Amino acid sequence: MSPAALTPEPSFQVRPIIKRKDQKFNFGAVVEGLDLNHISDDDVKRLKETIWTHKVIVVKGQKDLTPEKHWELVTRFDPDASQVHSHGNLETFQKKGGMLSKARDVYGIPGAENVRLVGKGFQGEDHYGLKNLNVKGLSNDFHADPPDDKDFHEGFTRFQRWHIDAPLYARDPAWFTTLRAVKLPSGPDVTIRWDDGSGLSMQAPPGLTAFFSTSQLYDMLSEEEKQLADHSWVEYAPYPYMWIENCKAPSTGLGLKSEGKEHTIEELGEYDEKDIKRYPCVWINPVTGEKAFQVHGLAARKLFLRSSADEQARVVDKVEDIRAFLHNIQSRVLRPEYIWLPEIQEGDIVMWDNYGLFHTAVDYPIKYGPRSMHQANIGASKGPVGPVPIPLVC
Ligand SMILES: [Fe+2]
Repeated sequence: MSPAALTPEPSFQVRPIIKRKDQKFNFGAVVEGLDLNHISDDDVKRLKETIWTHKVIVVKGQKDLTPEKHWELVTRFDPDASQVHSHGNLETFQKKGGMLSKARDVYGIPGAENVRLVGKGFQGEDHYGLKNLNVKGLSNDFHADPPDDKDFHEGFTRFQRWHIDAPLYARDPAWFTTLRAVKLPSGPDVTIRWDDGSGLSMQAPPGLTAFFSTSQLYDMLSEEEKQLADHSWVEYAPYPYMWIENCKAPSTGLGLKSEGKEHTIEELGEYDEKDIKRYPCVWINPVTGEKAFQVHGLAARKLFLRSSADEQARVVDKVEDIRAFLHNIQSRVLRPEYIWLPEIQEGDIVMWDNYGLFHTAVDYPIKYGPRSMHQANIGASKGPVGPVPIPLVC
C-alpha cells in the first residue's frame, strides 16, 4: 500500500500566505474548506501536520464552532494527553498561576471549562452562559515603563509579553494553541512601538496576536552558537509564574527586567522536585525536523551550557546573566520583518505550533470595542525533544 493510501489527501485547502516585499518571516498559512464541528480523523491528522509545517494557520469560517467541539478537537490533536488545559483546572490556575492569572481575567466556558474566555471589555449579557462579564484583558501594565495614557488612547501600544504557552512545571507545554475570534474590536491600525531607542515600530489592526519563529531564530545563530544551543539545557523554577509575579518587562515585552523582585524559592511553598522542568534549549519539530531555539526566558532559573555531549556543563544561575544571555540571542528575531500578526475575522480560529514560535498579545484602546476570544490547549502527552539528550543527573 502506498503512503498516499495510508494518509489520504486532506479535504481542505492550505494556502501559504503571500508576504509583502518587506516581510521576511517564513511561516503562516490560511486554511479553508473545513467545518470543525464535523471533522474526520484523517483531516485532524492532516490539520496537525499543517500546523507543524506552517507554524501558524488561520482556519477560516468557524463562527458556529461550539466550545464543546472546540475542546474535543484539541483532545483529538493529542489523544494520549490528560484531558485538561495545559495550565490545569481553573482553581489551580487562579491559585498558582501567579503573573498569568493575576494580570487578567480568565473564565472557563460553562460546560467546556477547558475552553477559556480571554479578551477585553464587556462580553455581552450572555456569552455562552457567562453573564454580564466585563473582562480585564492583558495590558501594558506588564511593562516597567508603560506608554503614557494619552499615547495609548491614540493607538500607540507595545508587544505585551513574548512567550510560549507553557506551564513549565508539572505538565509539558501544549503542542498547539487554538484561539478563536468570537468578537473583535474594530478601528484604525494601532502602532506597536519598541520604545527601546531602536526607533522600530509596526502597524496592525487592533486586537491581533503577534508571532515570531524560533526556528528562524535558530538559523540566525553562528555555527559556534548552534553547537552551544544544541547541547545546552535550561531548568525552570517551581511554580515559575508565581516566582516572577512581581517582575516587569522591558519596553519590547521580551524577557524581564532584573530588579530583584523574584520571590525566593522558599516563598513559593511546597513543591515537588519531580515536577521541575528541565528542557533542551533547542526543540525539534516532529514533522519538518527544524530546530527551534525555544527557551522561555521569563521563567528560566538555571542554564546549563556546553558545546558538546562530553563536556561538563557550565551552570549559569544568576537571573541577570541568564536574561542577558537569552536577550542577546532572542532579540535578533525581534524585528518587524520577522513578525507576523495574522489578520483575522470573527469566526476565524488561529492555531499555532507552541514548540517553534513565540507569541504575544497587543493591547489596544477600549474605544475600538470589546474583544472575545476562546482559547484552548492541552498539556502534551510527550514533551519537547532536543538534538541530544540532556543528562539525567544535573
Ligand atoms: Fe499565550
